[in-house]
Amino acid sequence: MEQTREEHNGAAPAAVYDRIGIGYKNVRRPDPRLAALIRQALGGARTVVNVGAGTGSYEPQDAEVTAVDPSQVMLDQHPGPRKVKAGAEQLPFEDGAFDAAMAVLTVHHWTDPHRGLAELRRVSRRQAVFTWDPAHRPELWVVDEYLPEIRQVDHSRFTPLAEVVEALDAHTVLPFPVPHDFTDGFQTAHWRRPEAYLDPVVRAASSTFATLPASVVEPAMERLRADLESGAWQRRHARLLEQESVDYGYRLVVAGQS
Ligand SMILES: C[S@@+](CC[C@H](N)C(=O)[O-])C[C@H]1O[C@@H](n2cnc3c(N)ncnc32)[C@H](O)[C@@H]1O
Repeated sequence: MEQTREEHNGAAPAAVYDRIGIGYKNVRRPDPRLAALIRQALGGARTVVNVGAGTGSYEPQDAEVTAVDPSQVMLDQHPGPRKVKAGAEQLPFEDGAFDAAMAVLTVHHWTDPHRGLAELRRVSRRQAVFTWDPAHRPELWVVDEYLPEIRQVDHSRFTPLAEVVEALDAHTVLPFPVPHDFTDGFQTAHWRRPEAYLDPVVRAASSTFATLPASVVEPAMERLRADLESGAWQRRHARLLEQESVDYGYRLVVAGQS
């Protein structure tokens, strides 16, 4: 039975995904290597709340999962039977209602990340939060060489990793180097497949690209196209092309009972 409530307070971030969320599922395909890491962190949790669930990526198949998201467009693409329209900042559940809570690449969209993280702790005994550390270097070459505007957008919305760790009182932080053939098309996913960034459909599945105006993004991508055609990009990144994975600062933060 679908359980949809309208009691969220995250109107603005939901609106972003109500606008850009169509087609998300085709580009943001869950990657089995990240799925394994998240699954391990969730242990044998029987009941899981997935906050900022989107289309349901990385949910454990053997648990009873409740998906929470303020965006109706995203909830409509979620295949699960238990869906709740709400924001992380005010979860409509009892204290300790779930064995575990998960939140994957969503905290940077929350209107109040600290309140949302406190809510995860309130409603679950264990928490697994996958996020990006804005202090991490290296940055993706797209940012460095083509779109420095991304830096400002991302740094203004990603909570520093140390704050996420502190807010959750986390006991474990696991790095996730992004494999070169990573299937979940978030911004950094195509680091060794530069042509992908030329595709507007690929860019539309990343909220950062979608946030920037076309007048900024398109000229930058035309420069990338020219560099790929001339071979300049390949010459600059010869060493990168030999790597299997790169640590771009993605982290799984695990807290609570193990
Ligand atoms: C990048 S998507 C990630 C979706 C999914 N966790 C995944 O890994 O594919 C971010 C999600 O956060 C949701 N979101 C935005 N504001 C939120 C809030 N205040 N509380 C919870 N989720 C929110 C968006 O609607 C969107 O579905």
